[in-house]
Amino acid sequence: MDGGSITCTISSTQSGSVVTLISQVSSTLQRIIDPLSQKDILTSGLVQGLKVSDLGVVSFSLEVETDYMEAGLKIKEQAAARLNTLPGITDVQIVLTASRKPKAHTPSQEGLPGVRHIIAIASGKGGVGKSTTAVNLACALHSLGLKVGILDADIYGPSLPRLLGVNEKPTSDDGKTMNPIQAHGLKAMSIGFMMDEKAPVIWRGPMVQTAFLQMLRQVNWGDLDVLIIDLPPGTGDIHLSLAQRVKVSGAIIISTPQDLALADARKAYEMFLKVNVPVLGFVENMSYFLCPHCEGRSDIFEHGGVEAEAALLGVPFLGAIPLHMDIREAAEKGTPLAPDTPQAKIYKEFAERVWDAIRN
Ligand SMILES: Nc1ncnc2c1ncn2[C@@H]1O[C@H](COP(=O)(O)OP(=O)(O)OP(=O)(O)O)[C@@H](O)[C@H]1O
Ligand SMILES: [Mg+2]
Repeated sequence: MDGGSITCTISSTQSGSVVTLISQVSSTLQRIIDPLSQKDILTSGLVQGLKVSDLGVVSFSLEVETDYMEAGLKIKEQAAARLNTLPGITDVQIVLTASRKPKAHTPSQEGLPGVRHIIAIASGKGGVGKSTTAVNLACALHSLGLKVGILDADIYGPSLPRLLGVNEKPTSDDGKTMNPIQAHGLKAMSIGFMMDEKAPVIWRGPMVQTAFLQMLRQVNWGDLDVLIIDLPPGTGDIHLSLAQRVKVSGAIIISTPQDLALADARKAYEMFLKVNVPVLGFVENMSYFLCPHCEGRSDIFEHGGVEAEAALLGVPFLGAIPLHMDIREAAEKGTPLAPDTPQAKIYKEFAERVWDAIRN
């Protein structure tokens, strides 16, 4: 079955209570969204062989594409948790199989009105400096005379309020669209502008995607040369929504030189390839240590690994950014790096390479 029809086997007698159970099971499953197809998991055909016994045992197999076991596991957990709360259900048996061949994913050709280029900043691993790099890249592109926006796509852990030193809520002129916050010459939007940064976000997957898509589409970005999107770590639902819902000029993958971070960067690279988003290149963050006192350089981690990996994959290497106290302090204070510092120049050269890659 691929989409549309739902078949369900009822074992033994088809009593009224079992029929009620089936409709509850179906409507529960219909509330779980497959991040890949954006349809519910029944309609998308992920649920196969659904059975409900008169003893209240639900069983089915969850057939995901070979590359989406991680997403499949999340769906399985969600389905089990929700079905287990239904009265009358005594057991939930879900077998996860990766038997569906991946379909060719065609990214949306639709851009955002007035926005020339969208660039996604990603990494497989958390804490490698995506947000810091995204903000400094945005400021450096602005210093080249470009109109730049930045969108914080991290709904669970927004960073932009802190990085830009912003503590104000966005306004709305018509009650439908929001005006971005203006900070340091950038137009910015983050869920953190609307909520207390320390309040935990307890939204479920589909709500997170809706919030992200609203921040993308229902914000008056105006005319922009570049909109930078700072993605959350990993290769999850937000990444897929982005690739499927809007035309992205390219993704930049940030990695630190350590092997583990590099392996995750490779995963991010493969994910973008699968969803047909061009990868503009790799960046090595915290590439080497620059002493704030003597400006002497130490290669703490074996620096150069990201460049070698980029060469291996045939992807451009966009730059090496040092681990430097000024970069961390600027991030903590929410003030961009002073333009004449050596660090600001490194980001400027990086920005020039990025702009050259997308400008046409
Ligand atoms: N080049 C750098 N030099 C010094 N400190 C840095 C550098 N890059 C990032 N940092 C610091 O490292 C920490 C993590 O950076 P950041 O929040 O940008 O990472 P991230 O990849 O966005 O994390 P997450 O995955 O949680 O979103 C921050 O304290 C930041 O100030
Ligand atoms: Mg971040």
